[in-house]
Amino acid sequence: MTLPTIPTVDLNDLRSDDARRVETACAAIREAFGTYGLAYVKGHGVDSAGVMRVYDHFREFTSKPEQEKRKFARADLWFQRGWTPPNTEVAVAAGGQPDFKECYFMAPYDNDPALQAQYPELYPPNVWPEGSDAFREHYTKMGRALHEAGAELLRGAARALGLPASTFTDICEGGAHVTRVLHYLALAPDQVAKGIVWGEEHTDFNLLTLLPGGRFVNPEGEVAPKPDDKSGLFLRTRGTPENPAGVQVRGRPPEGCIVAQIGQQLEILTGGRFVATPHVITAPGVPGWTRDSAAHFMHANPNRVLYPLRAFLDDAARKAYGPPVLAGTYAIKTLVDIGLAPPSAIEKLGYRHYDRLEAQRRA
Ligand SMILES: [Fe+2]
Repeated sequence: MTLPTIPTVDLNDLRSDDARRVETACAAIREAFGTYGLAYVKGHGVDSAGVMRVYDHFREFTSKPEQEKRKFARADLWFQRGWTPPNTEVAVAAGGQPDFKECYFMAPYDNDPALQAQYPELYPPNVWPEGSDAFREHYTKMGRALHEAGAELLRGAARALGLPASTFTDICEGGAHVTRVLHYLALAPDQVAKGIVWGEEHTDFNLLTLLPGGRFVNPEGEVAPKPDDKSGLFLRTRGTPENPAGVQVRGRPPEGCIVAQIGQQLEILTGGRFVATPHVITAPGVPGWTRDSAAHFMHANPNRVLYPLRAFLDDAARKAYGPPVLAGTYAIKTLVDIGLAPPSAIEKLGYRHYDRLEAQRRA
């Protein structure tokens, strides 16, 4: 079987005045997001040396004593800022095995005060360890560069579907965008081949995810090529009648490219024209190896409605993606589902003062 080839989208083609170059990029987007839910992206403007600095700084943080790191584990902020301890997050679809990783979340742009008042846990202020100016600076710069590349790609994605270029970026404006740096943990010898995964198979719940590229570190602490053929990022292609399970493909971008992945929100808005990519981060078959990576999550504005856009609204789309739901409500529900927000967050949705009538009747 020939392995599928994931297309590369050149953002410089999208920026060009040459209609042929724009169409080349749009065709690549349709194929990449329509079939794989994932594109390789060049012309992105993300500085790879800066990304490595972010990883170095986060490694410094992860090597601190647990007690020190706990101060930044903010369950009260639903872990949307600061440190996510290992074994906190669980994938929805994959049987509830927690991920073998630790992460740090921050928002690269200032919060909109009105949205912050409406959704305090989706827009908490950033938290930073003391003396982490360089971490903050490189991390913020990386997050913004990924966001800008993502916005360019979203404009291209709209054009590729025959929509006005700003369709998706308008929906994205003011969203609770968040950048995450991740450190996948070393397996002990007795943990190898016991079914532990670094990140369980799932689809992202946001609009679009940008991945600047990870790196492996060997047991001696040196950056090194992959330890074996089974570790790292794998994605699953869209199922077909002949092959309903789809095909698992290693996400290996060409040199210098970053990766962009479709999330559930964009699948809903496009009525399934673009598909949210199931992906998994598999752990190595050897002990002692670790991995660093990062992701920037672009979200729909929480007050936007998630429902197929008019151009994609047919009976099948209504059935698959109805009823409409606010992106903010959707985010709250999903954060509960994946173990980051407490189940009580769901009880806050809708009216919650029935006890008042109870009390009045008793009186
Ligand atoms: Fe993901």
